[in-house]
Amino acid sequence: MRSLPARAHITAAALLAAGLLAASDTGASATVTTPAAVAAPDISVANVKAHLTQLQSIATANGGNRAHGRPGYKASLDYVKAKLDAAGFTTSVAQFTSGGRTGYNLVADWPGGDTNRTVMAGAHLDSVTAGPGINDNGSGSAAILETALAVSRAQLKPVKHLRFAWWGAEELGMIGSRNYVNSLTTSDRAHIAGYLNFDMIGSPNPGYFVYDDDPTIESTFKAYYAGIGVPTEIETEGDGRSDHAPFKNAGIPVGGLFSGADYIKTAAQAQKWGGTAGRAFDPCYHSSCDRMTNINDTALDRSGDAVAYAVWALAAQ
Ligand code: TRP
Ligand code: CA
Ligand code: ZN
Repeated sequence: MRSLPARAHITAAALLAAGLLAASDTGASATVTTPAAVAAPDISVANVKAHLTQLQSIATANGGNRAHGRPGYKASLDYVKAKLDAAGFTTSVAQFTSGGRTGYNLVADWPGGDTNRTVMAGAHLDSVTAGPGINDNGSGSAAILETALAVSRAQLKPVKHLRFAWWGAEELGMIGSRNYVNSLTTSDRAHIAGYLNFDMIGSPNPGYFVYDDDPTIESTFKAYYAGIGVPTEIETEGDGRSDHAPFKNAGIPVGGLFSGADYIKTAAQAQKWGGTAGRAFDPCYHSSCDRMTNINDTALDRSGDAVAYAVWALAAQ
């Protein structure tokens, strides 16, 4: 294969899909080079798994979970915050009360970019009390953490402002994310160009589901998966089931990825994605067995790379 210069090799189709290129710009070539857009990095699944190992250890040391109001939640937040602070993010922790217990959201801003057009990526950091929550939702939490660290390593200078968020008390009904959205003024809300949600993206018997919501965000994720030749399906389990819901209800464009929870994989889905038909995407959903063994490395690798692809593409202009 022909070697390419270091910067910015994104297919014209992907840029078109992401709304970053006008059709008139494509010409005959399948590849364009644009100094304005830097290609997203390959996110190391080993690094993502190293974060998961830390979250697993935190759960093990704190009664087996990382649930709202329990010591494992705060320890998880402290772990993520320390990584972000060391990488040059501006972090803030917001406290709230739910069920008589204190909860926390962590928000991390990457300095620079147009704050009137902010791209947000978020994941809930709490588990249920039954287990350590490694797929639900260590997977999304670790993938956006590693993407944020990649932004820092690249010293990315995106056109839009970038903000990452880790939500508390999702498992009690999206309490943390709703709290955050409620804290925003009308003007703050108007300045969020899009919110990307990642909740369960390393399921052991995985599917590749893309939220059917904002068309630009949806087509960006689809362009990534098309580029690696992996078929996707629309996420149909229901709009209200994770932290994108409060954003959507406030009129903010949303999108996200999902690799399946307790629904059963069909024969047709096993045909196209591999894995086991007649078995749940995640048989350990909300159970004590949602530990390190409950992750499919290929799914986690693809999901992490898709997170970075979308963050890079959507913030590029
Ligand atoms: N945390 C979510 C929940 O417990 C997980 C989930 C289930 C989900 N179905 C979903 C997330 C559909 C996004 C889309 O309900
Ligand atoms: Ca990767
Ligand atoms: Zn979840």
